[in-house]
Amino acid sequence: QHCFTKSPDGFLYCEDTKVQDIMEKVEKRPFYLYSKPQITRNVEAYKEALEGLKNSIIGYAIKANNNLKILQHLRKLGCGAVLVSGNELKLALHAGFDPTKCIFNGNGKILEDLILAAQEGVFVNVDSEFDLENIVTAAKVAGRKVNVLLRINPDVDPQVHPYVATGNKNSKFGIRNEKLQWFLDAVKAHPNELKLVGAHCHLGSTITKVDIFRDAAVLMVNYIDEIRAQGFEVDYLNIGGGLGIDYYHSGAVLPTPRDLIDTVRELVLSRNLNLVIEPGRSLIANTCCLVNRVTGVKTNGTKNFIVIDGSMAELIRPSLYDAYQHIELVSPTPPDAEVSTFDVVGPVCESADFLGKERELPTPAKGTGLVVHDAGAYCMSMASTYNLKMRPPEYWVEEDGSVTRIRHGETFEDHIRFFEGL
Ligand code: LLP
Repeated sequence: QHCFTKSPDGFLYCEDTKVQDIMEKVEKRPFYLYSKPQITRNVEAYKEALEGLKNSIIGYAIKANNNLKILQHLRKLGCGAVLVSGNELKLALHAGFDPTKCIFNGNGKILEDLILAAQEGVFVNVDSEFDLENIVTAAKVAGRKVNVLLRINPDVDPQVHPYVATGNKNSKFGIRNEKLQWFLDAVKAHPNELKLVGAHCHLGSTITKVDIFRDAAVLMVNYIDEIRAQGFEVDYLNIGGGLGIDYYHSGAVLPTPRDLIDTVRELVLSRNLNLVIEPGRSLIANTCCLVNRVTGVKTNGTKNFIVIDGSMAELIRPSLYDAYQHIELVSPTPPDAEVSTFDVVGPVCESADFLGKERELPTPAKGTGLVVHDAGAYCMSMASTYNLKMRPPEYWVEEDGSVTRIRHGETFEDHIRFFEGL
């Protein structure tokens, strides 16, 4: 069951609520619209997949979407959190996440943030020699031993866009196996500051083949064997995030959370490990649309354009990664409306400002609602105020069909506030 469906008469629904009706009730500007029940269903799919694996942790990658209401909901459903900055750590604590289900990641963690992580008792993934030194310092300042995992860069090709590949040999993330011994010796040298509890890897994002996860997991359990052979009691295997979703809405069968977990299950059980996963996109992307209005339609040269009020400022993935996100109108067009090939573009003064290229769509009237699908992950969290577009409000449809605002839209006054008293 998926939250966004088209009725036979051509209206788009979010669960049982007509998107057009929502558009009439809310502010007249682009907005993000989520389905709260879909978020629940996505978490349940992971929980069911993890059944039989004791002490596993679903560490939701906050960077994908940092809406506080969504975080609180995910926390209530039992998720932990994956953090990549001190502010994400503060937000996770604010949302009530259990620190022992939180993992602090990153190749450039700063001392101040590591001290907070040490004080709060979250897991920390070690990324480099200097990172290890900083973690030791943070442990001393906090007066607390830090549970660390070594982020190993296993050099497995995730077969994705180079900007979202992280686990290959020349990546800036993690440590290479030839340096493993240095890190084990360094941990041994700091018994009062560091407790090595496991190994971590993250290959990349938008991965659509589970074999890739399996290949990495095989390498990782071998490293864990090696680490255990030196007397470390390591219990955690963290295989990161990265599972892709069906952005194309092509009906292609993509791996599910169950497929992902099943492909590593035996390995995890064979070593009696606790599995940690760090999903972002596959938990949240498909729960949301960016809802826009058509400002007008124009033609230049051989190109037809649908110009909408949303833009690369609200949603940058197409501009940044040439990413495809499915686009459709929220209401039926007259049967005689001409279907053409359009680029769907925003009002921002950049030719990179497009939400979709070469889409077959019926010519929409001004004011028609147009949605960009799968906008729950890396869309709002990557939004900017470029061209002073201001970041959009967010709403969700609840279980009972009611629509609630879950984040205020940014306003012009918010911008002016940065200069008050200067
Ligand atoms: N763990 C680590 C260490 C990560 O770096 C990431 C994402 C995740 C977990 C979550 O990965 P996911 O399950 O969401 O694929 N902005 C890009 C995606 C960047 C992902 C960065 N790392 C996009 O819009 O496609």
